Amino acid sequence: MTRNYRADFPVLSQEMNGKRLAFLDSGASAQKPVQVIEAMDRVLNTGYSNIHRGLYAISQNLTAEYEAVRQKVADFIGAYSDKEIVFTRNTTDAINLIAQSWGRAHLQRGDEVIISEMEHHANIVPWQLLRDQIGIELKIIPVKDDATLDLDAYKTLLSNKTKLISVVHISNALGTINPVQDIVKIAKDFNAYIKLLIDGSQSIVHMPIDVKALGADFFVFTGHKLYGPTGIGALWGRMDVLETMPPYQGGGDMIEHVSFEKTTYKEPPFRFEAGTPPIVEVIGLGAAIDYVRSVGFEYILEHEKELIAYGQERLSKIEGLNLYSRAPQRAGIFSFTIDGTHPSDVGMILDQSGVCVRTGHHCCMPLMQRFSLDATVRASLGLYNDKDDIDQLIEGLYKVKDLFG
Ligand code: ALA
Repeated sequence: MTRNYRADFPVLSQEMNGKRLAFLDSGASAQKPVQVIEAMDRVLNTGYSNIHRGLYAISQNLTAEYEAVRQKVADFIGAYSDKEIVFTRNTTDAINLIAQSWGRAHLQRGDEVIISEMEHHANIVPWQLLRDQIGIELKIIPVKDDATLDLDAYKTLLSNKTKLISVVHISNALGTINPVQDIVKIAKDFNAYIKLLIDGSQSIVHMPIDVKALGADFFVFTGHKLYGPTGIGALWGRMDVLETMPPYQGGGDMIEHVSFEKTTYKEPPFRFEAGTPPIVEVIGLGAAIDYVRSVGFEYILEHEKELIAYGQERLSKIEGLNLYSRAPQRAGIFSFTIDGTHPSDVGMILDQSGVCVRTGHHCCMPLMQRFSLDATVRASLGLYNDKDDIDQLIEGLYKVKDLFG
């Protein structure tokens, strides 16, 4: 059931190196539909001003439109209230906010944070910074050969010092869909006070999200992978948790009252949004959510399932190709190497064939080390991809085989 959503994305009508553009790098950043571009353009052309500060009409109108996106995000992920949505720069910013605000307020030397071996650096380094600052311990859930998390090992990591577990929902490097609902339940059954953070950077694009059903305390994602602009992401936190957190950054718009002696802060989420926010980007994120909703997850899931099966079948016929995206539950991400070639060479030859993929460690160096790799080639799907894109990838890979013989 392929529909021509490709036509909504102006970039995709171009050629690259004289070839039809097969964009298979949406895991890094997705292309933008005309609906998002027009929404941002409209604000800049007809109604731009700062928000939360102007008594004049265009500021008031844009403030209302901006705050309506907060509600849109809340509805999109099933939050209890729009006040649980903090706008951030991206996922990285959101995790750093949690580490520095919640972490510094609630963790002490010797407390334990559990992450997994398949985390993106954005869910590793903020905790290492906190470790250096206050002396927490980091524990790591191992990855099994089948690219899934070792849940038996996970259970043995839980202790009375465990305070937070932060795991990725869908691995950006492998496509593995982690059973986060089970991970949450195991932790909460062990100790209901343990906090759970889900990195939804990839899952927000590939599946409907209901934070209530997930049962976690935090869920974070970025807009630019969701067909929205860069510079805008969101942090969802349960209100009773957000209320215990001090500001992350200080500045305008997050205060109630300032004097040299004492400053008081707004309630969440505004306490966490210091300074003029990325206003136009928030409007773009709202348009991206509207767009994804208009396509619908029923279509996205079905279409992706079809392309995963097709891609898997075609890739499996290439001799010497080692596929690391092999978990039984996985999203549209194919991570692989080809014997006798380096991923960078593969990437460059694919570029000549009009195919965009990411090559490298995918900001997951520990995961690469787990599989004794320094890099893979990663083809990642968006809702605009079709079988022609996969065919073009396969054709390019046969060219690689010919050249490296
Ligand atoms: N996190 C992005 C990726 O997976 C940049 O490529």
